[in-house]
Amino acid sequence: MESKLLYTDYSLVVTEDGSHSIRFSAVDEGYHSMHGAVKEAIHVYLQPNFVLQAEHNDELYVLEMGFGTGLNALLTYMYAQVMGCKVHYTTIEAYPVPSDVYTQLNYAASCVNEMKMLFSSVDFHNIDLVFQQLHTSPWGCETIISDHFVLLKHHSTLQAASLPADTYNVVYYDAFAPQFQPELWTAEVFERIYNAMSSNAILTTYCCKGDVKRALKAAGFAIEKLPGPKGKREMLRAVPHKD
Ligand SMILES: C[S@@+](CC[C@H](N)C(=O)[O-])C[C@H]1O[C@@H](n2cnc3c(N)ncnc32)[C@H](O)[C@@H]1O
Repeated sequence: MESKLLYTDYSLVVTEDGSHSIRFSAVDEGYHSMHGAVKEAIHVYLQPNFVLQAEHNDELYVLEMGFGTGLNALLTYMYAQVMGCKVHYTTIEAYPVPSDVYTQLNYAASCVNEMKMLFSSVDFHNIDLVFQQLHTSPWGCETIISDHFVLLKHHSTLQAASLPADTYNVVYYDAFAPQFQPELWTAEVFERIYNAMSSNAILTTYCCKGDVKRALKAAGFAIEKLPGPKGKREMLRAVPHKD
């Protein structure tokens, strides 16, 4: 099936919380919610997933489907600093955002502003440099970004990526919507993710469609609906039934 998304057709937009995002001009789809890219990422991936796990673990193995703009990775770097845990961050990206696009994104300033509102006592240094490093670090090998953040980026489709078994305790499932990429929301794909997750792991996603819930259940997950970020009634948290 031919993709409805043209990975050259990027346009930079400002979302409601002042942070940037990228949209595809030809179709109504983008990398984040127009109601606020940074606020959405915190609401869907950090608060109901990473934060819960960081409260009980000094070391976390995070898997992200879709590195994209690097926003989730940057926020995770900052939360790891705040929460004092070490993160091994693996992310899979088939169509990297070109440098003339990612260098225009205002995520260093937007994330520092948002994080200062949440954690007024924490000082964040060199976040613009960290954001650049997340993008420029090589594909296919580990890069030590700091003593609390090790990055491994795979330049691959999720379907072709080889994932270690029973490893990840945090999964950010951030694929484009099922109407654009139905092949990424199937029980077969979720089974591969399930096998890569540890028994106490959490997966979160912004998508709460019926077909997605059924595919997750068929793959062995227990699912829970949570209130969605601004502009979305619901989102999903899923935990693998293991043991
Ligand atoms: C909704 S965006 C992710 C946004 C990203 N997490 C961020 O913070 O900017 C979906 C991402 O998945 C990538 N993608 C699309 N198809 C893919 C595939 N089959 N395997 C891996 N990545 C894919 C896209 O290039 C895009 O970067």
